Amino acid sequence: MGFSTDCIHAGQEPDPSTGAIITPIFQTSTYVQQGIGQHKGYEYARTQNPTRRALEKNLAALEGGTDAYCYASGMAATQAVLSLIKQGQRVVVSDNVYGGTHRLFTKVLAQYGIDFAFVDASDPSAFARAAGRFDLLWIETPTNPLMKVCDIEALATVAHGHGALLAVDNTFMSPFFQKPLALGADLVVHSTTKFLNGHSDSVGGVVVVKDTKVADWLRFYQNAAGAILSPMDSWLVLRGTKTLALRMPRHEQNARVVAEFLRSQSKVKRVYWPGFEDHAGHAVQKKQASGFGALISFDLGSREAADRLLRAVRLCSLGESLGGIETLISHPATMTHAGYTQPERDALGIGNGLVRISVGCEDAEDLLADLRTGIEAV
Ligand SMILES: Cc1ncc(COP(=O)(O)O)c(C=O)c1O
Repeated sequence: MGFSTDCIHAGQEPDPSTGAIITPIFQTSTYVQQGIGQHKGYEYARTQNPTRRALEKNLAALEGGTDAYCYASGMAATQAVLSLIKQGQRVVVSDNVYGGTHRLFTKVLAQYGIDFAFVDASDPSAFARAAGRFDLLWIETPTNPLMKVCDIEALATVAHGHGALLAVDNTFMSPFFQKPLALGADLVVHSTTKFLNGHSDSVGGVVVVKDTKVADWLRFYQNAAGAILSPMDSWLVLRGTKTLALRMPRHEQNARVVAEFLRSQSKVKRVYWPGFEDHAGHAVQKKQASGFGALISFDLGSREAADRLLRAVRLCSLGESLGGIETLISHPATMTHAGYTQPERDALGIGNGLVRISVGCEDAEDLLADLRTGIEAV
């Protein structure tokens, strides 16, 4: 089936008891059993839930995996992947990942004897020289918030050369634009809170896998650790994915208009968007993805200038998160990347004047009018 068909139908059958075309919200904690060991495949709702399972099958199909497991948030999904790593093992992470991921790795999981190293992964040969030996490579591409592009295929070869796994946080692209498993990645992670849900009304996460042994562990871990996605949130994401193939082109079309507008403004020092032909990662992005996405970062030079713009805009809502149909604008240094120290942010180039915009599906002219007001206030 085609991608749009899978968005609408994969993993979903009419409800057998009523014929309801939409998978119901199975809001139950347990299931009645007929006798000892006699049940219909459902025992307890942390372990199995039909709404969550329908979503997992849907997302596995969209990413081209063998299976998927949904968790209570993107961070819980990230933690599930890291449960594959044991004390004394080494994880290499592409630099400038989401601040919460950096925080989980360096402040929580490092306590359990896992060694984390952050390395620029945008040049695979320099990366291979700098990374050393590792057991898991974790990347985001494009990276958050500086939109560096990492070559998934080349990095999969480096990782597999070490007998390591490659996990890709595909939240920014969604499977509409990029399918890391087909490029050699072993695991794909999403904050379903973002484009997959698309309506800013649910928090959740998913891990999509290829290998059945890894799948078995993640299913076991999902039940053992218990950070499952609720039936209501599963239903909301399932509703969201139905329109993914309609929303993503519109997001990107608007993003191009916004990126070009920002670039034409003298008060904007630099615009980071992989859709520009002179972006360092443009060719790799074109090779491995069918689009450039709707996340743009731009530098206004100082925190004061950024604050003036963020206070002046109205249609672009100042808030954490991304990927909703409404445009969200944020200040990485104090919001998404506050988990990094100032010296760490300085080293990465995440300045106090940097603003990130997740371009929504509004009318482009309205977004430009709003941003024009913002730039005038700077
Ligand atoms: C790229 C990326 N990955 C993971 C996460 C974490 O997801 P959640 O907020 O659903 O826990 C975020 C959150 O902003 C994100 O931007």
